[in-house]
Amino acid sequence: MYLPDEVEKILFTEEQLKARVKELGEQLTKEYSGRNPLFLCVLRGASVFFGDLIRNVECPLEIEFIKASSYVGTNSSGEVSVDGEMPNISGRDVVLVEDIVDTARTLSRLKALLMKEAPKSLKVAALLDKPSRRVVEGFKADYTGYEIDDLFVVGYGLDCDMKFRNLPYVGVLKG
Ligand code: IMP
Repeated sequence: MYLPDEVEKILFTEEQLKARVKELGEQLTKEYSGRNPLFLCVLRGASVFFGDLIRNVECPLEIEFIKASSYVGTNSSGEVSVDGEMPNISGRDVVLVEDIVDTARTLSRLKALLMKEAPKSLKVAALLDKPSRRVVEGFKADYTGYEIDDLFVVGYGLDCDMKFRNLPYVGVLKG
């Protein structure tokens, strides 16, 4: 298996991720049955999770992408930027798909921006959550894969300086 020197240990294996994402997909299938939701992927980190998640949701969904970034290296810059055009979400049941909730600055900002576009509903699905790092008090995703400790993780779409997104597992970066 490809285990780069920078990765200290594997936190969630490919098999564990597959099983958990299937469960999340089943929950979403129940919630959105009979509806036509719009799944909105937050690029780039959520891309791998998004690709797996939507294939586990059994309803006529549509997909869109939004680009937001808030990190430089392993330290949060505190800045959130949204690039490009806002997708048309007016009147839609939107599921915003993110890789990880950390301080929650990114998602709270994005949610506020998206709410201005008058979606019918807006829910958040995040693969990982680091509750101990929260800056935006009380923020919680509607669907969460795993809660983790204050660790910097990479793989399954998550990066450090744009690297390691291709790892099929979630691993902890060496400190
Ligand atoms: P927040 O705004 O602090 O919640 O940060 C959210 C963004 O920071 C995520 O979408 C990730 O891109 C990035 N991030 C936070 N923690 C990690 C991590 O452990 N590994 C990789 N990226 C992370």
